[in-house]
Amino acid sequence: MSQSIFDTLSHLYSSLEIVNKNMDLENLKQQAATSAVDFVQSGMVIGLGSGSTVYHALLEIGKRVQNGMDILGIPTSLQTARIAESLGIPLSDLNCHRNLDLTIDGADEIDTNLNLIKGLGGALVREKITAEASQQLIIIADQSKIVPYLGQVSPLPVEVVKFGWKTTQDRISQFCPRVERRFEQSDVYITDNGNYILDCYFEKITQAAKTEIEINSLPGVVENGLFIDRVKLAIIGTKNGIQHQYKS
Ligand code: 5RP
Repeated sequence: MSQSIFDTLSHLYSSLEIVNKNMDLENLKQQAATSAVDFVQSGMVIGLGSGSTVYHALLEIGKRVQNGMDILGIPTSLQTARIAESLGIPLSDLNCHRNLDLTIDGADEIDTNLNLIKGLGGALVREKITAEASQQLIIIADQSKIVPYLGQVSPLPVEVVKFGWKTTQDRISQFCPRVERRFEQSDVYITDNGNYILDCYFEKITQAAKTEIEINSLPGVVENGLFIDRVKLAIIGTKNGIQHQYKS
C-alpha cells in the first residue's frame, strides 16, 4: 500500500473513531436525560436547565407533553426557551412561579459529594437562581463529567458586570492563577444577562464552599459556577448503564 493511501485510510479511521465516541457520549447523555424525565409528573412546574445533555431531556419532555403530560417549564436560558417552545413545551417564568417542583440540569464537573462546576454554557446565574427555587435538583451527565475534585478539567466560570471587569479580574487573580475573559470564536462572550464571563483556571479547588463565598463577595461578581450542597441526585450515563448517585 502506498504511503498516501495509508495516510488517507488512517485519517479516515481516526475520524470514524471520533464520530463513534461522540455518538457514544450522546447516547449516554440521552439515557441519563430520559431517566431524569421519569421523575416528572403531570401538574409539576419544572426548571429546565441548559446545555447539550438537557437538550435530550427537552426532547423527551416534548414527546411526553405531546402525549398529554401537563407541565409548565421555567427555562434557564434563552436557548432553552427557544428549544422548548419549538417542542411545544408550555413555558412561564420564575417571577410567576417561585416554587418549582423539580429542576433538571447538566453539569461540567461532578465530584464525589455531588458538588458541581456549572456554567461552561454561560447560563450559571439563571441556573443557580432556578436551583434555589426548586424543591429538587436532578443533575444529568455522561460519565466524563465525574471528577475526583473540582477544577480538575473545567475552569470555574464567573459572571461579572462589564463595568470595571479588569479590576474584578485582578481581584480574582489574587487567589486563582489564570483568569481569562471568555470569547466565542473571535467575539467577547456576552451572557443572557448582558454580562461577561471570566473563566478561572484553578489547579485544584480544595475548599469549594469557601471559594464560592469568597468569589461572590467581590464587587463586580454576579455569581460563580460552584454548586455546593445543592444536589441530592445525579443521574450518570455510563458504559455499564445508568447510575443514580444519591447524596447521603
Ligand atoms: C450551562 C451549564 C450546563 O449545564 C453545563 O455546561 C453542561 O453542559 P453540557 O450538557 O452541554 O455538557 O452549566 O451553563
